[in-house]
Amino acid sequence: MKHWYRLDINTKDALGIDVKKHCFDNTDRADVFIEGHGGIWTFGKDEIFKQSWIDYVQETCPYLEVTGALIFWRAPGYQHAGAHIDVAPNSSPSRVEGIDYENGFHATNSSDSMDANDFYPVVSSYNWILNSDDDSAMTWHEPLPNANIELKKFTDAVHYDEVPIVDCKEIDRCTIGNDKLVMVRTNVLHNVDMGQQERWAISARCVMGWSNWQEAVETLKEYIVE
Ligand SMILES: [Fe+2]
Repeated sequence: MKHWYRLDINTKDALGIDVKKHCFDNTDRADVFIEGHGGIWTFGKDEIFKQSWIDYVQETCPYLEVTGALIFWRAPGYQHAGAHIDVAPNSSPSRVEGIDYENGFHATNSSDSMDANDFYPVVSSYNWILNSDDDSAMTWHEPLPNANIELKKFTDAVHYDEVPIVDCKEIDRCTIGNDKLVMVRTNVLHNVDMGQQERWAISARCVMGWSNWQEAVETLKEYIVE
């Protein structure tokens, strides 16, 4: 099974702000910011998206209720040496009470800064790249048997289960592109293979009414174009 599916949902007119400017004006609010290299920001839906686009998404696909976004910026050529699984705090607006989210190796790991019981793995997110000449790829990986797995906390908003990329084998990749939402699997180890372009990725987060990837794909299958 693929780890990404392009959906027939347009990204045109989604943003209500100049995202690059807004992020660089708010580096103090970044979850992670490394001058000259990259950054991650978390925004609520009203801070970044036009309500007309949120409405368009839900009218087009009733299963997708946008709750917010993560923004990922990377400078050209910046390679991160770890692959990770997205986990979110149980208080996240995307979590549905009562759904038992598929939990790979996350459940087995806790650290001093975070208890595995306070977080859940994010099954899927809905991504696109701001620049139309995207030459990067999102990559998915399997940990090798001897992998060194670490549960990491960056901020209250960003938590990752991370594995060094050298302890992984690549299993899939996708150049996300600019004009359609791509549903990507986030509860399997993933990373970004950068090209020569700067990369600004918008990752919309939606209410997650499914417990695993297969169910997400099955639910959205009539909206899949690739
Ligand atoms: Fe991620």
